[in-house]
Amino acid sequence: MRAEILKILKESHGFVSGQELSHSLGVSRTAVWKAINQLKEEGWQIESVKSHGYRLAGEADVMTASELATVLDTQWLGTQIAYFDETDSTNIQARKLAEKGAPHGTLVVADCQSAGKGRRGRSWDSPRGTGIWMSILLRPGFSPACASMLTLVAGMAAVRGIERACGLTPQIKWPNDLVLDGKKICGILTEMSTEEEEIRYVVIGMGINVNNEAFPPELGDTAASLRQKLGHGMRRSPIIGETARAFEAYYEAFSRTRDMSGLREEYDGMLVNRGRQVRVLDPRGPYTGKALGIDQGGGLLVEREDGQVSPVISGEVSVRGIYGYV
Ligand code: BTN
Repeated sequence: MRAEILKILKESHGFVSGQELSHSLGVSRTAVWKAINQLKEEGWQIESVKSHGYRLAGEADVMTASELATVLDTQWLGTQIAYFDETDSTNIQARKLAEKGAPHGTLVVADCQSAGKGRRGRSWDSPRGTGIWMSILLRPGFSPACASMLTLVAGMAAVRGIERACGLTPQIKWPNDLVLDGKKICGILTEMSTEEEEIRYVVIGMGINVNNEAFPPELGDTAASLRQKLGHGMRRSPIIGETARAFEAYYEAFSRTRDMSGLREEYDGMLVNRGRQVRVLDPRGPYTGKALGIDQGGGLLVEREDGQVSPVISGEVSVRGIYGYV
């Protein structure tokens, strides 16, 4: 009911009376009053004036399930939403929900993570009220070999989501870091549970630095936030809404072929490494070459000095720009 009240308040320019709300929702005025109080506790500034009713006094930067329900324009992504004011990690929570049978498309969002996880066993700095810390639970019917490409799909969705919500167009550092002016603004961590060569579920965790004003010294050189690039803060829920909408579309396109063939051209257009010299940190021996784009399996095609072109497979190696992070 909170989501419905929020939607009505957002759509109306003046006051909405308690009577009108209780009539349109078919609930008592006391139930409306209780829901309004819960919304206020979530952070919404709602003016209550006797004989006039209720009015939204400002747009709060909250990402609660009721707020997300009003911004999600999707078919299946987010039909179930779990919101945490604080949790260890949305990936951990999504996995727990998956084990309990949560459906494909479940969305887990937190305002703060106490044990945010990054790739390669690193931690992910997730302070309160600053970023988007979210995980998407998927139950795809394809083979585990396809799962690494889902991180590429998620990277594309985040690029479009940020672009549509904020007007900034990040680029992708293969396979799935998002960068703006050479600094990382988003990271993606995909985890999978398999059984007998089949995927039980996949969890795609996305961390987007939105309103961070500063970063710990160890990240200062490589990380940035959308706020730092825009010069002003952003509400987080519209970015989630747009990213989810883009994810659904890219996921459907990917599912048709179960490879990147239909998305490859668009992905290459987003790639910051394209045409640049990269250093491939291959455990069998590092080498330098020019990144050409991706192949249909999602590998990065790198041309070595002798003209030989071979795909770098995500997860096996790390790619760095020869002059720094990008
Ligand atoms: C990276 O190292 O670049 C990946 C970072 C992924 C961070 C996100 S935040 C939401 C989700 N929950 C986690 O614990 N990690 C991912």
